[in-house]
Amino acid sequence: MKTNRLSKSIEAALNAQMTKEAYASQIYLAQAAWATAEGYGGVGNFLFRHAHEERNHMMKFLEYILNRGGKVTVMAIPAPDKNPSNLQDCFNKVFEQEVDNTASIYKIVKMSLEQEDWATWNFMQWFVKEQVEEETLSLNLLDKIKIAGGEKATDEALQELNKELKNMADEAPEAREATTENP
Ligand code: FEO
Repeated sequence: MKTNRLSKSIEAALNAQMTKEAYASQIYLAQAAWATAEGYGGVGNFLFRHAHEERNHMMKFLEYILNRGGKVTVMAIPAPDKNPSNLQDCFNKVFEQEVDNTASIYKIVKMSLEQEDWATWNFMQWFVKEQVEEETLSLNLLDKIKIAGGEKATDEALQELNKELKNMADEAPEAREATTENP
């Protein structure tokens, strides 16, 4: 009896998405390191936490593939792009990367619908909801930097923003929601 409940194409798409989540984690990690080195430890802390969250997303895909009897293929993760040129650029990149990820999630939802793979369709709904939260979170970051003055923001305004993000760590339920212990 065939025990793999995933079609070849869905298995491949889920594996690719697993790698994409790992890539997202590397991007956040690189940006967090950059922000911290630039003196924005609060922003760095926020981004480090998000890097961890993306690793948890990666694990959710890995666990799902295994649970469905599929084959997990761990692939190389591309290196992140070059460092941002300033905080606004950093937050822009965060937003772009989340939008790109949403498009990729939607493709798998569409595939599962077309193939009537309702288990995968149902599994993917968690990510559809998560992407709404993540896009909102990154849009809020863009609003904050705009209010601080955008590219013309003073050092004082940026340090205020830095402090705000440092304190936000305990106020961001969406960043805590996904863990491997509490998926
Ligand atoms: Fe795993 Fe930010 O999406």
